[in-house]
Amino acid sequence: MDIKAVILAAGKGTRMKSETTPKVLHEIMGKTLLGYVLDNVKNFVSEEFVIVGHHAQEVEKFVKDNYTSAKTVLQSPQLGTGHAVSMVCPQLENFDGLVLILCGDTPLVTEKTLKEFVEFHKSNNSDLTVMSTIFENPTNYGRIIREDDGTLKCIVEEKDATSEQKAVKEVNAGIYCLNWNKIKSAFGQLKSNNAQGEYYLTDIISWGKAQNLNVNAYILEDSDEIYGINSRQNLATATKIMNKRNLEKYMTEGVTIVDPDSTWISVDTEIGQDTIIYPSTYIEGKNKIGKNCKIGPCAHLRGEVEVCDNVKVGNFVEVKKSKISSNTNVGHLSYIGDAELGERVNIGAGTITANYNPLTKIKSKTVLKDDVKIGSNSVLVAPVTLEEGSNVGAGGIITKDIPSWALAITRSPLKILEDWVKRQG
Ligand code: UD1
Ligand code: CA
Repeated sequence: MDIKAVILAAGKGTRMKSETTPKVLHEIMGKTLLGYVLDNVKNFVSEEFVIVGHHAQEVEKFVKDNYTSAKTVLQSPQLGTGHAVSMVCPQLENFDGLVLILCGDTPLVTEKTLKEFVEFHKSNNSDLTVMSTIFENPTNYGRIIREDDGTLKCIVEEKDATSEQKAVKEVNAGIYCLNWNKIKSAFGQLKSNNAQGEYYLTDIISWGKAQNLNVNAYILEDSDEIYGINSRQNLATATKIMNKRNLEKYMTEGVTIVDPDSTWISVDTEIGQDTIIYPSTYIEGKNKIGKNCKIGPCAHLRGEVEVCDNVKVGNFVEVKKSKISSNTNVGHLSYIGDAELGERVNIGAGTITANYNPLTKIKSKTVLKDDVKIGSNSVLVAPVTLEEGSNVGAGGIITKDIPSWALAITRSPLKILEDWVKRQG
């Protein structure tokens, strides 16, 4: 059966207290919240609709630039989660399949869970399934209210709940699977007579029950997965959960993480066996690190970094959008950006690729072919190419291409003035 995803991303995110960034574009280790949600569905749905509203242009641009198959749909004004879904009704008028609804602020849910959720929906012949979980502290989430016989009754939002309902620990994850043909008419019938004056998506549960449809809840064991981000505190907690999960995976695959408490590695980083990640290393965005590498302590990989096998990226080294080929060392205090480093290259301490011209705002590339050696404290002013085996003396400022096997020195000759100090007195 065809599945389409609807991702709610139009809300203001008031509790994030951000002037500049819409909630769903806040990041966890170099990747936006919305990016996580889109990545989780892109492999098994035929089309994604992202509902945008607050800061719509920025969210639209993000989707367009990064997820070409996804479409954006404008919700203006934003009158609640139910109203948000109703915005796709025209696009899905003749659709006869499943619609998976997700929130753009719930990035920890996994693709595996979402697939199991859809399977549960199908195998129960469900018309409408909502994902729920048990939270010891359910504050702020919608509560799942059940009949005496345990079947679903409705969802009540925190702000509308009685104190008895507030004591319920089963909460709404904000993830739903709908047989679209059976549920779509609900969206013209939702009411906004609640504490927030909004059209709540959660009301489709009681609507479905009233229509005698088959409405079910899928209870997720790992409650961390549905942790929603509404505040900066939530963002920090989610980052920790995500990181712990990533580090566990790397260690299981044969990567040494010396100090998991001070190491941060993004989900889109691949790491080969027997690589050692030393403490206080921060790796964000998409990266590929080979086997038998040593990274850190205190290294910063900023994304789009490819590190081949047997490479050392040492302390206080920052790398961005670069390839470092095998058996190359970048040992200490260096910046490697927009660069390509060949095999067996040695980068002396304090080497900088000057990749950015702040006047033209243009970034340029630095290319170091195999066996290049750079003396300490050198600046490689891009665009520049150092051909195979060329060497740069310490303190070099390299503004021109260097031919193969040549030595480039830019420092002024050393002068020694005998007894100069004594003569001063
Ligand atoms: C919502 C659910 C709640 C659930 C929780 C799970 C409703 C009414 N409540 O509450 O039951 O426990 O998620 O995390 O659905 N959005 C729009 N347009 C709008 C309003 C919101 O697109 O007009 C988007 C937001 O950008 C966000 C998502 O919908 O991504 C959820 O909205 P939010 O305000 O965060 O709802 P919660 O209060 O968390
Ligand atoms: Ca939320």
